Amino acid sequence: MEAHNEKVIILDFGSQYAQLIARRVRENNVYCEIVSHKIAAQEIQKINPKGIILSGGPASVYVKNAPRCDERIATLGIPILGICYGMQLGCQMLGATVRPTPAREYGRTACTVNSESKLFKSLAKDDTVWMSHGDQVVELPAEFHSLALTRNCPFAAVMHKETIFYGVQFHPEVTHTPQGRLMIRNFLYEICGCTGDWKMYSYIEKSIDDIRKQVGNARVVCGLSGGVDSAVTAALIYKAIGNHLSCIFVDNGLLRDYEADEVITTFKDTFAADLHAIDARDRFSDKLRGVTDPEKKRKIIGHEFIEIFKEEAKKISQAKFLAQGTLYPDVIESIPAHGGPTVTIKSHHNVGGLPAELGFELVEPLRFLFKDEVRKMGEELGLPEELVWRHPFPGPGLAIRIIGEVTKLRLGILRNADRIVIEEIRKAGLYRSIAQCFAVLLPLSTVGVMGDERSYENVIAIRAVETTDFMTADWCRLPHEVLEIISNRIISEVKGVNRVVYDISTKPPSTIEWE
Ligand code: XMP
Repeated sequence: MEAHNEKVIILDFGSQYAQLIARRVRENNVYCEIVSHKIAAQEIQKINPKGIILSGGPASVYVKNAPRCDERIATLGIPILGICYGMQLGCQMLGATVRPTPAREYGRTACTVNSESKLFKSLAKDDTVWMSHGDQVVELPAEFHSLALTRNCPFAAVMHKETIFYGVQFHPEVTHTPQGRLMIRNFLYEICGCTGDWKMYSYIEKSIDDIRKQVGNARVVCGLSGGVDSAVTAALIYKAIGNHLSCIFVDNGLLRDYEADEVITTFKDTFAADLHAIDARDRFSDKLRGVTDPEKKRKIIGHEFIEIFKEEAKKISQAKFLAQGTLYPDVIESIPAHGGPTVTIKSHHNVGGLPAELGFELVEPLRFLFKDEVRKMGEELGLPEELVWRHPFPGPGLAIRIIGEVTKLRLGILRNADRIVIEEIRKAGLYRSIAQCFAVLLPLSTVGVMGDERSYENVIAIRAVETTDFMTADWCRLPHEVLEIISNRIISEVKGVNRVVYDISTKPPSTIEWE
């Protein structure tokens, strides 16, 4: 069974935006995948895509060893859209000349487009686009039409008359090109003839089918962390194989308020799955006693989790498969040749990662999905809204938000403060627009007055950030009224806290977490 017939492929030349292009395509209900720029034309023919997009990239097409693609792609009769470097490469392959730009363009730029062309259908003639380039096409053979220009760029968009090749020097995939979404939609619908047959419900059906084929009658084990990825993985597999799924949930005592209860209720009551919930709170707190170094905390928690998971998995007879909530961005980033020259600056945090020696075969039903698509799937599978939209939470949990030693007393203080932060952010209707917000318990006491007495108590820091990739982040400009309520509530309701501060640092140089 096929969930979709239409597919677009994106040849990645090392663009920081390749994933963004993919998301924009999928937002138009067209399935797409990012592939290496080295893919052979024959291979593309086998995939039989409705369209090909050549991504941007940091290289210059005229230097030796610049990433190129199989030139025969221009003869397949499949529409191609080249973006920035992809445009320069496509144009060069079709006989144009590319040179360094006399005046490098960067940022928002006024652009005049030919709205008669299919690519710019329904667009205003004068538009703003996002430019970021040091090279550009300078001479075009007669087979090309110019479709747009900016002050410094005579060929901001072009079309080849014989091959179905379109090129744009700017970036339609970023939000700074306000009409960019429409341009991508035009490419897919007007030029490639897509109809938009990629729908979540049919993808769920297909995934269920694939899971059944892969695992047959065998038993699958899935670790639940309380986060959205593992919950959606489990819910999907449960739909596919029902009680042949066994879920393991390790309560390490480092989760936020109500989280453990919610996981247990969801998977025991709503899904009636075979749930092994292990109360390991004491085990973790024993191991963490006296530990203050953040990396040591991470190692201890990661190691302990694996030990407990192994012990429990051994008890599940005939378990053959292990389900993991790996997402598409991790898949792309783990293939070194994929993005060619892209440099990935992400450090690997995943404490919940399980070692291969467990001897399971992997089931990874989310490996072609982006986070927003996983959430959509979670909603369609009937998972609770709070779980589906939950902010990311680090594997070591509250342990790395208690600076210094983790004790039961300090965990209690932080959990209460954190609950208040989340409650008030939700009440203010801000939860979904914030990427992550939480409380941190600092390892110091400050002086205060409570009644007639001087107090000497803990400080809570509030962190709220906006980010899409978690590699860079900005602090949220939370309304003062919301901060005021949070601060008042924490100080009056959480025993042991007499001061609240707000973190106004960006990442970099700061990180999102404090440890
Ligand atoms: P930083 O603090 O590096 O965080 O800016 C970036 C993102 O990663 C999360 N994070 C972790 N996640 N184990 C995890 O599973 C960890 O040890 C860990 N440390 C940070 C952090 O919450 C943010 O989303």
